[in-house]
Amino acid sequence: MSEAAPEVPLVDLAAQRRRLEGRIEAAVAAVLDHGQFVLGPEVGRFEEQLAGVGGVAHAVGCSSGTDALLLALLAWGAGTGDAVFVPAFTFAATAEVVALVGATPVFVDVRADTFTIDPASLAGAIEWAPAAGLRPVGIITVDLFGQPADYGEIEDVAAAAGLWVLADAAQSLGATFAGRPVGSLATATATSFFPGKPLGCYGDGGAVLTDDAQLAERLRSLRAHGQGASRFDHVRIGLNARLDTVQAAVLLAKLDIFDDERVDRQAVADRYGERLAGAVTVPSVRSGTTSAWACYTVLTPHRDRLTGALRRTRIASAVYYPKPLHHQPAFRGFPTAPQGLPVSERLAGEVLSLPVHPYLDVPTQHRVVDAVWAAAGSAP
Ligand SMILES: Cc1ncc(COP(=O)(O)O)c(C=O)c1O
Repeated sequence: MSEAAPEVPLVDLAAQRRRLEGRIEAAVAAVLDHGQFVLGPEVGRFEEQLAGVGGVAHAVGCSSGTDALLLALLAWGAGTGDAVFVPAFTFAATAEVVALVGATPVFVDVRADTFTIDPASLAGAIEWAPAAGLRPVGIITVDLFGQPADYGEIEDVAAAAGLWVLADAAQSLGATFAGRPVGSLATATATSFFPGKPLGCYGDGGAVLTDDAQLAERLRSLRAHGQGASRFDHVRIGLNARLDTVQAAVLLAKLDIFDDERVDRQAVADRYGERLAGAVTVPSVRSGTTSAWACYTVLTPHRDRLTGALRRTRIASAVYYPKPLHHQPAFRGFPTAPQGLPVSERLAGEVLSLPVHPYLDVPTQHRVVDAVWAAAGSAP
């Protein structure tokens, strides 16, 4: 028997579309009318506004968050013999791009409280790499579930070892660290516009944000076949990784409400924090940091029971991620930090993401809270 669709989805894109009242349709229709489907005027307009959101001089739109990471690695020339340090508890794309350019992803553990890369594990892995014949070149931090990594400590570790930092901000656009917006926290920041992300388009899309003008120019060239000064002038090996004009038009319409949505997601997260503590371990956000709340991820040793209870009451939930990357068949051959990855391994068994989006009204959220408490065995 097939399962009934959840009545409470993880994110509600239909509600967002209703709120925008035809603005997306009008923006797409304008693209159909002018016909500049590839790198049309909406792409440049969107890039300019996005750079403002990230507090940087340049944003380069591209075809996905994965390609945003890949373009940055290509721009820096990471390759064979290079070690790039990545958290083990993240989505596959973070490590995949490292292997794709021929470099070696070295898996590092994450912190138990924030789920972001652990500076101590990172420092240990960097120290270990040369003995294994690897040249440390860079770190990819991940702002998991929307919370920026600990950029203060990571910057110190990176500077001491002379490494670049690439922020994987696929889940964190709109968040801040020490009063600075995501986009401005690393040498380059890759983000994703996958539909369910804090800023999502209607397909695939991504961008790289940076203050470095030369890097931005290389990224623009790389996303368009290594183009030089003119269209059939190829100065480097690149790929086709451009942001579609139609997607840029959708994103421009959604940017108008992006800040309001961030505030509303924060309110939902605050209510969960107040009402779920005690039933499950609620997320902890470092002081001086805000999360974009791409996911509201709790920890419970009784995950199967909770997932079953939510399913029966038609509330969506998801396990991001059921396996740390070093246990995935594709990544088994790659090295891990010398002290091991115990936190990543434990989290994979206990995480559960609950519905969080700007349109989750209070009565519906109470329904989620009640279901979680019922599964925990007592009342809120
Ligand atoms: C942490 C992280 N990195 C990278 C990506 C890749 O983004 P995209 O799906 O746009 O390629 C995602 C998307 O889910 C992600 O969550």
